[in-house]
Formats: sequence, structure tokens, C-alpha cells
Amino acid sequence: MSVEIKQPTDDVIEQAARHLLTGGLVAMPTETVYGLAADAENKTAVARMYAAKGRPADHPVIVHVPDIATVAHWVSDFPEYAKKLAQAFWPGPMTLVLPRSLAAGDFITGNQDTVAIRVPDHPVALKLLNKLCELGGKGVVAPSANRYGAVSPTTAVAVAQELSDYLDSQDFILDGGQCDVGLESTIIDCTGAAPKVLRPGAVTVEMIEQASGTKVAAESGTRIRVSGSHKKHYSPACQVLLEGEPKPGDGLIALEEVATGPGVLRLASPKNLTEYASQLYGALREADHLGLKRVFVFAPAGAGLALALQDRIQRAAAKGEEK
Ligand code: TXA
Ligand code: MG
Repeated sequence: MSVEIKQPTDDVIEQAARHLLTGGLVAMPTETVYGLAADAENKTAVARMYAAKGRPADHPVIVHVPDIATVAHWVSDFPEYAKKLAQAFWPGPMTLVLPRSLAAGDFITGNQDTVAIRVPDHPVALKLLNKLCELGGKGVVAPSANRYGAVSPTTAVAVAQELSDYLDSQDFILDGGQCDVGLESTIIDCTGAAPKVLRPGAVTVEMIEQASGTKVAAESGTRIRVSGSHKKHYSPACQVLLEGEPKPGDGLIALEEVATGPGVLRLASPKNLTEYASQLYGALREADHLGLKRVFVFAPAGAGLALALQDRIQRAAAKGEEK
């Protein structure tokens, strides 16, 4: 079965909001990656979403809301530094983990007393979220629209390839073009005295410290579950190698300055880190599409966005680890 990809006209967006509010699933574009949306207040819809992804039910998901005002519905506390981050980076590729309100059910938080929340920066996602709230909803949960452990989709077609077999005929995908950022949002734990980065992303440590006026807390081996923090995640089917010499028939993903050897298939030549982030997942998907056995992915050095790239590339390469 092939799930329908629809162009996001106003009518289609209203249809999507109504479908969500009656328990359906809609894949929506965001600026990071595509998400598989379900009404965050509907336990049955959320259970269907987990089933479609093949994701363990105790893994918490991110609530997506249209604006900062709606965050109040979902959280019981919003520390000053977290408000500064929200004002600086929302809408944008940042998720805040905050103490939950009673509205945030166990079925979205994995039984934790916190909730993850973000305002995405994509016109289609924002229109959909605004329409949903206008019709009485309070937000959607939207994990990346891939099967559990697979590479996150950055185009509508990639979502269809991932999830067509697992969605109902009434569910559909909103086409919002190619995602700008290309890597999942930065996740920041805001339950302590200082912000703590749980998943690196396009909102970097430097940006967080500047906007919040607070030093980021050191990694503290948190017990909070972050599914993306499992070692093997974001993995294509082919073997991913981080170093060595690609041979003829191998794939190569690296910054433009890295030369391509004879017979090697160059899958991406990003000029800078921003381009690298937006091209990485598509290039990994292309490696599988071409049926390559091995793809070499050379991570960029440095901090900032390079940290997020290093993180995702290492996870793509982790083999034989628990998913
Ligand atoms: O960019 C993104 O964040 C994308 C787009 C679609 O918005 N979404 C995304 O969702 O990456 P997902 O479910 O693939 O990853 C969400 C991450 C998971 O690693 C989950 O464990 C973590 O957020 N998370 C959710 N609730 C949490 C909580 N209360 N505490 C700590 N981590 C949490
Ligand atoms: Mg994911």
C-alpha cells in the first residue's frame, strides 16, 4: 500500500487537523525532519503512532505546539532560563524538557514527571498546529516519521518509503518539501538549575549559553530516557564506516574538500556544516537505495553544529548494539 502525499493547501491542512482530532495520523514536515503526528491528548491515537513506528511504548515523545502561550497547558513549571531559550529560539529546532502538568499523560511521557515540548519552525507545521488548536486541540506528539532505529526522513517521499506499510488508508503525508535543518532538534533538559543538553542539534551549546545567560550543565549520565541516545540509531542498512580508504563501489559522504577516489560513489559533498546537516540523512538513504554494501562517512571536526553531526554519524555507524 502506498500512503498518499498531499500538497498542503488550506483545505488539506484543515482536513489534516480534523483527521488528527478524530484519532488519525498525519506525517508533517518540520524544519528539522518529518514527524509522525498524533493528537497528544488521545491515548488511542498515540498508541497507533507507536505501533506504526515500531517504537517501544515507554519511549517518551515530543509535544509540538503552535506558540509559547500553549506551552503553559503542558508544563507545571517554566524556569526563567528556559523562557529565555524559548523566546530566543522558538519557533525553531529546539526541544525543552520541563516538569509536566496533569495534561501530559503517561502515554506521551513514558511515565516520567517531565514533558518534552517544542514549537517547530515550518509554515506547514505551524498552520496545522494553529488549525488544530482553533478546533479545540492542544498539540500533537510527533516523533521522527521513520521506523524505530532507522534514518529520520527529510522529504515526504522518504516518509512514504518508511511508513507506507504501517499507516491506515485514511492517514496521509503533508508535503512540505525538503527539511531545511536536516537533523533532529537540540533537546535541553530544563529541570535543573542550569540547562543540560540531552541531544545536540542546530541550537548549539554556545547559542544556549548566550541566550540564557547560564552555563550549560556538564553531561551527568542522566537517567532520563532519550531514544535517540541509544547507541545504534539513525542507521541505514548498509555498513557505515567512519575512517579508512573507500574502495571502488563504496559510497562516500564527506565535506567538499575531501577528494573522491576512483570508482567511489560520492553521495554528498557539502561545502559547510549547515549543508552537511541538511544532506546527511538523504545521502544515507541514497546509499541504501543504491544497494551499497559500505558507505564511508567522514565527520567534520569541531564544536557547534559539528557536534550534532558527529553524534548522528557515530550512531549511524554503531553496529550490533542494542537499538
Ligand atoms: O526535531 C525533532 O525533534 C523531531 C521533529 C519531528 O520534531 N522529532 C524527533 O522526535 O526527533 P523523536 O521522538 O524521534 O525524538 C524525541 C526524543 C527522543 O529521544 C525522546 O526520548 C526524547 O525526545 N524525549 C521525549 N520526552 C522526553 C522527556 N520527558 N525527557 C527526556 N527526553 C525526552
Ligand atoms: Mg527519532
